Amino acid sequence: MAEVAHYQKEYPEWSRHLQGLHERYVDPFVINVQGRDVVVLQENVMQAEDLSLVLSHYFCNETVFPLEFWNGKRIIELGSGTGIVGRPQTVSTRFDAHAFTGTVMASLGADVVITDKHPQTELIKKTTERNKQVMVGTHSVQELLWGQDVAAFGKPYDVIIASECIYYNDLVGPLCDSMRKLSNGNTDIYLSYETHNDESVDFFMEEASLFFDISLVPHLDHHREFQSEYVNIIKMRLKQSLCK
Ligand SMILES: C[S@@+](CC[C@H](N)C(=O)[O-])C[C@H]1O[C@@H](n2cnc3c(N)ncnc32)[C@H](O)[C@@H]1O
Repeated sequence: MAEVAHYQKEYPEWSRHLQGLHERYVDPFVINVQGRDVVVLQENVMQAEDLSLVLSHYFCNETVFPLEFWNGKRIIELGSGTGIVGRPQTVSTRFDAHAFTGTVMASLGADVVITDKHPQTELIKKTTERNKQVMVGTHSVQELLWGQDVAAFGKPYDVIIASECIYYNDLVGPLCDSMRKLSNGNTDIYLSYETHNDESVDFFMEEASLFFDISLVPHLDHHREFQSEYVNIIKMRLKQSLCK
């Protein structure tokens, strides 16, 4: 573990927090998925972060999800990634995200719908275009605003994924609403979040537990290398009493 003074945290060696500016914000970021390289174009506006790295590697962990497990699974990713365009000018030197996890899932063989707000979706399309050779499952990039009508997306999905989407209390209701509308009693929902983000996480858990059964994915099941004490993954399912 390496120490970073300004955060006063000990991040794992692979953490994006420990990388230089170029690596973190500019150079293409590469993750190897079952022998194939998925390349995340950062281009100063998209960036791979620890939360999506931990979640993506969890899905690649063959001791939990055996080879071919993901083949043909219908997956939708919510809040896939943003760019500078979605950020106030004042904080424009801090960027997050990139449509990373959804791209990895399609590379594992899943049929993935990658969603976010417009115009973030335009940036996401660059990453999927760059990776179309390795995305062996089908994929599409679509605009989905949390809380909106989801009839156009077709339900249910086998899996819903969302990385780093628990941060503003105001967004919790709409996010839960979308997850409810897109799932049935067999849909597994996976979210990754930062463990130190207590207030938002508590708020989310309170709201989400009204509709979903929630369990913490043990860190033992995370990828052996790409895990962090600062990142949790939860698994949720719509409560049986709410299933039609
Ligand atoms: C912090 S970023 C996380 C991005 C990416 N999943 C990751 O792990 O790095 C949150 C994402 O949620 C999206 N988002 C925020 N509010 C939203 C809403 N109301 N509807 C749809 N997407 C939203 C943002 O555009 C952004 O891409």
